[in-house]
Amino acid sequence: MLIRRAERFKASDVTDETLYLNRRAFIAGGAAVALGASDVADAAAPPAGAPLKAERNEALSVKDAATKLESATTYNNFYEFGVNKDDPAREAHRLKTRPWTVKVEGLVHKPKTYDIDDLVRAFTLEERVYALRCVEAWSMVIPWIGVPLSALLKQVEPTSQAKFVEFTTLLDPAQFPGQKPGFFGGGLDWPYVEGLRLDEALHPLTLLTVGMYGQVLPNQNGAPIRVVVPWKYGFKSAKSIVRIRLVSEQPKTAWEKAASQEYGFYSNVNPNVSHPRWSQATERRIGEFRRRPTLMFNGYADQVGSLYTGMDLKKYY
Ligand code: MTE
Repeated sequence: MLIRRAERFKASDVTDETLYLNRRAFIAGGAAVALGASDVADAAAPPAGAPLKAERNEALSVKDAATKLESATTYNNFYEFGVNKDDPAREAHRLKTRPWTVKVEGLVHKPKTYDIDDLVRAFTLEERVYALRCVEAWSMVIPWIGVPLSALLKQVEPTSQAKFVEFTTLLDPAQFPGQKPGFFGGGLDWPYVEGLRLDEALHPLTLLTVGMYGQVLPNQNGAPIRVVVPWKYGFKSAKSIVRIRLVSEQPKTAWEKAASQEYGFYSNVNPNVSHPRWSQATERRIGEFRRRPTLMFNGYADQVGSLYTGMDLKKYY
Protein backbone atom coordinates (compact mmCIF):
# COMPACT_ATOMS: atom_id res chain seq x y z
CA MET A 1 0.00 0.00 0.00
CA LEU A 2 1.35 3.35 -0.96
CA ILE A 3 1.27 5.80 1.90
CA ARG A 4 1.48 9.44 1.04
CA ARG A 5 4.23 11.14 2.95
CA ALA A 6 3.94 14.78 3.73
CA GLU A 7 5.34 17.50 5.87
CA ARG A 8 6.57 16.12 9.18
CA PHE A 9 6.22 17.62 12.61
CA LYS A 10 8.88 17.18 15.20
CA ALA A 11 7.79 16.50 18.78
CA SER A 12 9.41 19.77 19.72
CA ASP A 13 7.06 21.61 17.37
CA VAL A 14 4.12 20.90 19.57
CA THR A 15 5.30 20.22 23.11
CA ASP A 16 8.32 21.37 24.95
CA GLU A 17 10.90 18.82 23.87
CA THR A 18 12.13 17.96 27.36
CA LEU A 19 8.62 17.18 28.53
CA TYR A 20 7.90 15.13 25.46
CA LEU A 21 11.08 13.10 25.76
CA ASN A 22 10.33 12.60 29.44
CA ARG A 23 6.93 11.21 28.61
CA ARG A 24 8.63 8.61 26.51
CA ALA A 25 11.36 8.01 29.02
CA PHE A 26 9.21 7.10 32.04
CA ILE A 27 9.25 3.54 30.91
CA ALA A 28 12.55 1.74 30.62
CA GLY A 29 12.80 0.97 26.93
CA GLY A 30 14.71 -1.79 25.25
CA ALA A 31 16.66 -1.06 22.12
CA ALA A 32 14.69 -1.11 18.92
CA VAL A 33 15.24 -4.29 16.97
CA ALA A 34 15.10 -4.71 13.24
CA LEU A 35 11.62 -5.19 11.95
CA GLY A 36 10.93 -8.75 10.97
CA ALA A 37 7.33 -8.70 9.81
CA SER A 38 6.74 -9.04 6.12
CA ASP A 39 4.47 -6.78 4.19
CA VAL A 40 1.09 -8.32 4.87
CA ALA A 41 -1.16 -5.78 3.18
CA ASP A 42 -4.25 -7.55 1.89
CA ALA A 43 -5.86 -6.74 -1.41
CA ALA A 44 -9.27 -7.75 0.01
CA ALA A 45 -9.40 -4.75 2.32
CA PRO A 46 -10.65 -1.47 0.89
CA PRO A 47 -7.49 0.56 0.45
CA ALA A 48 -6.97 3.39 2.86
CA GLY A 49 -8.01 6.45 0.95
CA ALA A 50 -10.89 4.72 -0.86
CA PRO A 51 -13.94 6.98 -0.79
CA LEU A 52 -16.46 6.37 2.00
CA LYS A 53 -19.73 8.25 1.93
CA ALA A 54 -21.62 9.52 4.94
CA GLU A 55 -23.90 12.44 5.64
CA ARG A 56 -22.52 15.01 8.04
CA ASN A 57 -24.24 15.30 11.41
CA GLU A 58 -24.01 19.10 11.68
CA ALA A 59 -25.50 19.23 15.17
CA LEU A 60 -22.65 17.11 16.54
CA SER A 61 -19.88 18.74 14.49
CA VAL A 62 -17.56 21.53 15.56
CA LYS A 63 -17.23 24.50 13.24
CA ASP A 64 -13.42 24.76 13.42
CA ALA A 65 -11.45 24.15 10.23
CA ALA A 66 -10.34 20.54 9.85
CA THR A 67 -6.66 19.73 10.25
CA LYS A 68 -4.93 18.89 6.95
CA LEU A 69 -5.37 15.23 6.05
CA GLU A 70 -1.62 15.00 5.48
CA SER A 71 -0.97 16.09 9.06
CA ALA A 72 -3.60 13.77 10.55
CA THR A 73 -2.07 10.79 8.76
CA THR A 74 1.63 11.48 9.30
CA TYR A 75 1.69 12.77 12.88
CA ASN A 76 0.28 9.88 14.89
CA ASN A 77 0.38 8.04 18.16
CA PHE A 78 0.10 4.30 17.61
CA TYR A 79 2.74 2.74 19.82
CA GLU A 80 2.19 -0.72 18.33
CA PHE A 81 4.09 0.69 15.35
CA GLY A 82 6.70 2.59 17.40
CA VAL A 83 6.83 5.65 19.61
CA ASN A 84 7.86 8.28 17.08
CA LYS A 85 5.16 10.37 15.45
CA ASP A 86 6.16 9.24 11.96
CA ASP A 87 6.51 5.52 12.78
CA PRO A 88 2.80 4.69 12.23
CA ALA A 89 2.65 6.18 8.71
CA ARG A 90 5.78 4.27 7.76
CA GLU A 91 4.94 0.95 9.42
CA ALA A 92 1.15 0.77 9.13
CA HIS A 93 1.22 -1.11 5.83
CA ARG A 94 2.08 -4.18 7.93
CA LEU A 95 -1.42 -4.29 9.39
CA LYS A 96 -3.82 -6.63 7.59
CA THR A 97 -7.32 -5.25 8.05
CA ARG A 98 -9.23 -8.10 6.33
CA PRO A 99 -10.53 -10.47 7.39
CA TRP A 100 -11.29 -8.67 10.66
CA THR A 101 -13.83 -9.40 13.34
CA VAL A 102 -14.92 -7.51 16.43
CA LYS A 103 -16.19 -9.62 19.32
CA VAL A 104 -18.80 -7.90 21.47
CA GLU A 105 -19.16 -9.98 24.60
CA GLY A 106 -19.19 -10.15 28.38
CA LEU A 107 -22.24 -8.99 30.33
CA VAL A 108 -24.64 -8.91 27.40
CA HIS A 109 -27.74 -10.92 26.53
CA LYS A 110 -26.80 -11.31 22.87
CA PRO A 111 -23.03 -11.59 22.39
CA LYS A 112 -22.04 -11.21 18.78
CA THR A 113 -18.96 -11.42 16.60
CA TYR A 114 -19.19 -8.85 13.83
CA ASP A 115 -17.33 -9.19 10.58
CA ILE A 116 -16.09 -5.67 9.91
CA ASP A 117 -17.82 -5.39 6.51
CA ASP A 118 -21.13 -6.65 7.93
CA LEU A 119 -20.81 -4.17 10.77
CA VAL A 120 -20.30 -1.28 8.36
CA ARG A 121 -23.31 -2.39 6.32
CA ALA A 122 -25.55 -2.95 9.35
CA PHE A 123 -25.54 0.68 10.49
CA THR A 124 -26.00 4.08 8.92
CA LEU A 125 -22.65 5.82 8.79
CA GLU A 126 -22.46 9.48 9.65
CA GLU A 127 -19.76 12.10 9.50
CA ARG A 128 -18.89 14.14 12.56
CA VAL A 129 -16.21 16.77 12.87
CA TYR A 130 -14.65 16.43 16.32
CA ALA A 131 -11.84 18.14 18.15
CA LEU A 132 -9.11 15.69 19.22
CA ARG A 133 -6.97 16.73 22.20
CA CYS A 134 -3.92 14.61 23.00
CA VAL A 135 -2.66 14.42 26.58
CA GLU A 136 0.67 15.70 25.15
CA ALA A 137 -1.02 19.12 24.65
CA TRP A 138 -1.47 19.12 20.89
CA SER A 139 -4.81 18.99 19.11
CA MET A 140 -6.41 18.41 15.73
CA VAL A 141 -9.87 18.70 14.19
CA ILE A 142 -10.93 15.57 12.33
CA PRO A 143 -14.01 14.73 10.25
CA TRP A 144 -14.65 11.14 11.35
CA ILE A 145 -17.05 8.66 9.75
CA GLY A 146 -18.70 6.08 11.95
CA VAL A 147 -21.64 4.90 13.99
CA PRO A 148 -22.57 5.79 17.54
CA LEU A 149 -21.23 3.07 19.85
CA SER A 150 -24.65 3.09 21.53
CA ALA A 151 -26.24 1.65 18.36
CA LEU A 152 -23.97 -1.38 18.50
CA LEU A 153 -24.35 -1.82 22.27
CA LYS A 154 -28.13 -1.74 21.90
CA GLN A 155 -27.94 -4.76 19.58
CA VAL A 156 -26.08 -6.90 22.12
CA GLU A 157 -28.29 -5.83 25.05
CA PRO A 158 -26.05 -5.20 28.08
CA THR A 159 -27.26 -6.94 31.25
CA SER A 160 -28.02 -4.99 34.43
CA GLN A 161 -24.61 -6.07 35.82
CA ALA A 162 -22.72 -4.29 33.01
CA LYS A 163 -21.13 -1.10 34.34
CA PHE A 164 -18.09 -0.55 32.10
CA VAL A 165 -17.00 -1.19 28.52
CA GLU A 166 -13.51 -2.44 27.74
CA PHE A 167 -11.88 -2.04 24.30
CA THR A 168 -8.99 -4.23 23.20
CA THR A 169 -6.66 -3.60 20.26
CA LEU A 170 -5.32 -6.47 18.16
CA LEU A 171 -2.38 -8.35 19.70
CA ASP A 172 -0.07 -9.54 16.93
CA PRO A 173 3.65 -8.80 17.08
CA ALA A 174 4.02 -10.06 13.48
CA GLN A 175 1.99 -7.04 12.35
CA PHE A 176 2.80 -4.64 15.17
CA PRO A 177 6.59 -4.33 15.57
CA GLY A 178 6.08 -2.36 18.80
CA GLN A 179 4.62 -5.47 20.44
CA LYS A 180 7.76 -7.52 19.87
CA PRO A 181 9.71 -8.35 23.02
CA GLY A 182 12.65 -6.00 23.40
CA PHE A 183 11.26 -3.39 21.01
CA PHE A 184 10.72 0.06 22.44
CA GLY A 185 6.95 0.05 22.07
CA GLY A 186 6.39 2.57 24.81
CA GLY A 187 6.69 -0.01 27.57
CA LEU A 188 2.98 -0.68 27.43
CA ASP A 189 1.58 -4.01 28.50
CA TRP A 190 0.06 -5.37 25.26
CA PRO A 191 -2.57 -5.56 24.03
CA TYR A 192 -3.63 -1.92 24.31
CA VAL A 193 -6.72 -1.82 26.51
CA GLU A 194 -8.98 1.14 27.13
CA GLY A 195 -12.28 1.55 28.90
CA LEU A 196 -15.28 3.73 29.55
CA ARG A 197 -18.07 3.78 32.07
CA LEU A 198 -21.21 2.37 30.46
CA ASP A 199 -22.98 5.75 30.50
CA GLU A 200 -19.95 7.33 28.77
CA ALA A 201 -19.96 4.56 26.18
CA LEU A 202 -23.68 5.09 25.56
CA HIS A 203 -23.30 8.86 25.24
CA PRO A 204 -24.35 10.03 21.75
CA LEU A 205 -20.91 11.60 21.13
CA THR A 206 -19.03 8.30 21.52
CA LEU A 207 -18.34 7.14 17.98
CA LEU A 208 -17.05 3.88 16.50
CA THR A 209 -15.18 5.11 13.46
CA VAL A 210 -14.31 3.38 10.21
CA GLY A 211 -13.35 6.41 8.15
CA MET A 212 -12.17 10.00 8.13
CA TYR A 213 -12.05 12.84 5.59
CA GLY A 214 -14.57 11.01 3.39
CA GLN A 215 -12.26 8.01 3.11
CA VAL A 216 -11.67 4.57 4.58
CA LEU A 217 -9.75 4.93 7.84
CA PRO A 218 -5.98 4.78 7.20
CA ASN A 219 -4.18 2.03 9.12
CA GLN A 220 -2.11 4.52 11.11
CA ASN A 221 -5.32 6.10 12.40
CA GLY A 222 -6.69 2.81 13.73
CA ALA A 223 -8.13 0.82 10.82
CA PRO A 224 -10.37 -0.91 10.40
CA ILE A 225 -12.28 0.33 13.46
CA ARG A 226 -11.47 2.69 16.27
CA VAL A 227 -13.48 4.32 19.04
CA VAL A 228 -13.44 8.12 19.37
CA VAL A 229 -14.38 9.85 22.62
CA PRO A 230 -13.96 13.56 21.89
CA TRP A 231 -14.20 14.97 25.43
CA LYS A 232 -11.37 12.76 26.69
CA TYR A 233 -7.64 12.78 25.96
CA GLY A 234 -6.85 11.00 22.72
CA PHE A 235 -5.39 7.91 24.34
CA LYS A 236 -8.89 6.86 25.44
CA SER A 237 -9.69 6.38 21.73
CA ALA A 238 -8.36 2.85 21.19
CA LYS A 239 -7.36 1.91 17.65
CA SER A 240 -7.74 -1.30 15.62
CA ILE A 241 -10.25 -2.86 18.00
CA VAL A 242 -10.89 -6.62 18.03
CA ARG A 243 -12.93 -6.93 21.23
CA ILE A 244 -15.52 -4.86 23.07
CA ARG A 245 -16.36 -6.39 26.44
CA LEU A 246 -19.07 -5.34 28.87
CA VAL A 247 -17.83 -5.80 32.44
CA SER A 248 -18.88 -5.03 36.01
CA GLU A 249 -15.51 -3.73 37.26
CA GLN A 250 -13.54 -0.74 36.02
CA PRO A 251 -11.10 -2.09 33.39
CA LYS A 252 -7.35 -1.71 33.99
CA THR A 253 -6.20 0.30 31.01
CA ALA A 254 -2.81 0.06 29.31
CA TRP A 255 -1.74 3.60 30.27
CA GLU A 256 -2.98 3.24 33.85
CA LYS A 257 -0.93 0.07 34.20
CA ALA A 258 2.12 1.89 32.82
CA ALA A 259 1.79 5.09 34.89
CA SER A 260 -1.45 5.46 36.87
CA GLN A 261 -0.33 8.70 38.54
CA GLU A 262 -0.10 10.30 35.06
CA TYR A 263 -2.90 8.69 33.09
CA GLY A 264 -6.11 8.07 35.02
CA PHE A 265 -9.10 6.03 33.96
CA TYR A 266 -11.32 9.06 33.32
CA SER A 267 -8.82 11.30 31.51
CA ASN A 268 -11.41 13.92 30.69
CA VAL A 269 -9.83 16.92 29.01
CA ASN A 270 -9.48 19.41 31.85
CA PRO A 271 -7.42 22.61 31.65
CA ASN A 272 -7.55 22.91 35.46
CA VAL A 273 -5.87 19.60 36.21
CA SER A 274 -2.23 19.55 35.14
CA HIS A 275 -0.43 16.45 34.03
CA PRO A 276 2.14 15.85 36.81
CA ARG A 277 4.86 17.09 34.43
CA TRP A 278 3.15 19.73 32.30
CA SER A 279 0.19 22.07 32.24
CA GLN A 280 -2.99 21.18 30.37
CA ALA A 281 -4.20 24.80 30.30
CA THR A 282 -3.26 25.38 26.64
CA GLU A 283 -2.68 23.36 23.52
CA ARG A 284 -0.99 23.63 20.15
CA ARG A 285 -3.45 23.04 17.33
CA ILE A 286 -1.49 21.26 14.61
CA GLY A 287 -1.10 23.70 11.71
CA GLU A 288 -1.30 26.77 13.96
CA PHE A 289 1.51 28.71 15.58
CA ARG A 290 -0.07 30.30 18.63
CA ARG A 291 -1.17 28.10 21.50
CA ARG A 292 -4.86 28.23 22.28
CA PRO A 293 -6.62 27.72 25.61
CA THR A 294 -7.80 24.20 26.29
CA LEU A 295 -11.53 24.01 26.95
CA MET A 296 -13.19 22.03 29.72
CA PHE A 297 -14.16 18.61 28.37
CA ASN A 298 -12.49 19.71 25.12
CA GLY A 299 -15.42 22.06 24.42
CA TYR A 300 -18.10 19.42 25.03
CA ALA A 301 -18.99 20.51 28.59
CA ASP A 302 -22.63 21.26 27.74
CA GLN A 303 -23.11 17.76 26.37
CA VAL A 304 -21.14 15.67 28.86
CA GLY A 305 -20.73 17.72 32.05
CA SER A 306 -23.75 16.09 33.69
CA LEU A 307 -22.05 12.66 33.50
CA TYR A 308 -19.69 13.86 36.23
CA THR A 309 -21.99 15.81 38.54
CA GLY A 310 -20.73 15.61 42.11
CA MET A 311 -17.41 13.98 41.16
CA ASP A 312 -14.12 15.51 42.24
CA LEU A 313 -12.39 15.75 38.86
CA LYS A 314 -9.00 16.27 40.50
CA LYS A 315 -9.37 12.91 42.19
CA TYR A 316 -10.99 11.16 39.23
CA TYR A 317 -8.55 12.49 36.63
N1 MTE B 1 -4.58 3.09 20.29
C1 MTE B 1 -3.64 2.13 20.27
N2 MTE B 1 -4.03 0.86 20.07
N3 MTE B 1 -2.33 2.39 20.45
C2 MTE B 1 -1.87 3.68 20.70
O1 MTE B 1 -0.66 3.88 20.87
N4 MTE B 1 -2.48 6.04 20.98
C3 MTE B 1 -3.53 6.91 21.52
C4 MTE B 1 -4.84 6.77 20.72
N5 MTE B 1 -5.15 5.37 20.46
C5 MTE B 1 -2.84 4.72 20.73
C6 MTE B 1 -4.20 4.39 20.50
C7 MTE B 1 -3.14 8.31 21.59
S1 MTE B 1 -2.00 8.71 22.80
C8 MTE B 1 -3.70 9.26 20.79
S2 MTE B 1 -3.39 10.92 21.03
C9 MTE B 1 -4.55 8.89 19.65
O2 MTE B 1 -4.71 7.50 19.50
C10 MTE B 1 -3.90 9.45 18.39
O3 MTE B 1 -4.73 9.24 17.29
P1 MTE B 1 -4.25 9.68 15.84
O4 MTE B 1 -2.90 9.11 15.62
O5 MTE B 1 -5.26 9.13 14.90
O6 MTE B 1 -4.24 11.20 15.85
